[in-house]
Amino acid sequence: MNLKGLILSGGTGSRLRPITHTSAKQLVPVANKPVLFYGIESLRDAGITDIGIIVGDTAAEIEAAVGDGSRWGVKITYIPQEAPLGLAHAVITAEDYLGDSSFVMYLGDNLLRDGISDLVEKFVKNGPDALILLQEVPNPEAYGVAEVKDGQVVQLVEKPTEPKSNLALVGIYMFTPAIHECTNAIKPSSRGELEITDAIQCLIDRGKRVEPHVVNGWWKDTGKLEDMLEANRLILDALDTDIRGDVEDSEIHGRVVIEDGAKVSGCTIRGPVIIGERTVVHDCYIGPYTSVYSDCEIRNSEIEHSIILEQSQVLDLRGRMEGSLIGKNVRIVRLDQKPKAYRFMVGDNSWIGIV
Ligand code: G1P
Repeated sequence: MNLKGLILSGGTGSRLRPITHTSAKQLVPVANKPVLFYGIESLRDAGITDIGIIVGDTAAEIEAAVGDGSRWGVKITYIPQEAPLGLAHAVITAEDYLGDSSFVMYLGDNLLRDGISDLVEKFVKNGPDALILLQEVPNPEAYGVAEVKDGQVVQLVEKPTEPKSNLALVGIYMFTPAIHECTNAIKPSSRGELEITDAIQCLIDRGKRVEPHVVNGWWKDTGKLEDMLEANRLILDALDTDIRGDVEDSEIHGRVVIEDGAKVSGCTIRGPVIIGERTVVHDCYIGPYTSVYSDCEIRNSEIEHSIILEQSQVLDLRGRMEGSLIGKNVRIVRLDQKPKAYRFMVGDNSWIGIV
């Protein structure tokens, strides 16, 4: 069967503001690689090379980062969505592109440890009308929730206030063209969106076969800060040491990647840690689960369990930075000038915790 891929990379990323005021949430790097790239690689590894990407306001940024897909040996088609009107609306928007193909729909901010190759194989072999992935979560009310009886999905509800189970819908779905009659039949939910959850429920109501698969390896929807940091932790946990940059007078413990052109001096680095290309780290302690992206400058500071995006500076911090997501081109510096005071220039929806 010739499957297509459909990656959703629109959306406003409201839960990751202020980062998403200026950048697409799907391009925030996890272990120094944009989240979206993991999705493209999962599809490619499952043998899917014809991939449509739904884009919204951040289309230009996504296109600049992904290009035509040749880097991964895939062909990318960009499909603009007029507004973020829901996941089922995205499928309607992509109808011409999808034609009569079955497809894997992949939410661009989702990460699945074990990829999707086995699941695609299962979908093709068993031939259901749809295959959905589920995972037990502690907070099902934040997701689409499935009720499963005797191995059959009986009901799906989007973000229920009183969930009937703790099985969340993972943001990766496999559909035959049967989904189109349902995406076109449903009405907007209370949050004003055409929900894919409702479209799948419609398949069930119409007697179609919806096969559930409970995912064992970890899954992360990186839509919020804590999830982003957790995803970073999980990916870094599988890191292999690779020192390509310059290291001087430093102690390196555990698994650490230092990318090309990076300069590390006078530091203690306790992995898993990744330091990006051309980044300078001097006189620092960099602790476990930290990703510093390219062209940053970190001096005389201690950082742990954090993600720092490109071209940012962290200089002379007195306390240790932890659990933080720092955007692009941010400067966190100690000032000597008088009066001695905090000085901030901080964007909307920012969050600062001081000691
Ligand atoms: C979407 C889906 C939800 C699913 C989740 C997975 O939620 O609507 O059913 O569980 O993705 O990431 P959203 O992230 O749009 O709130």
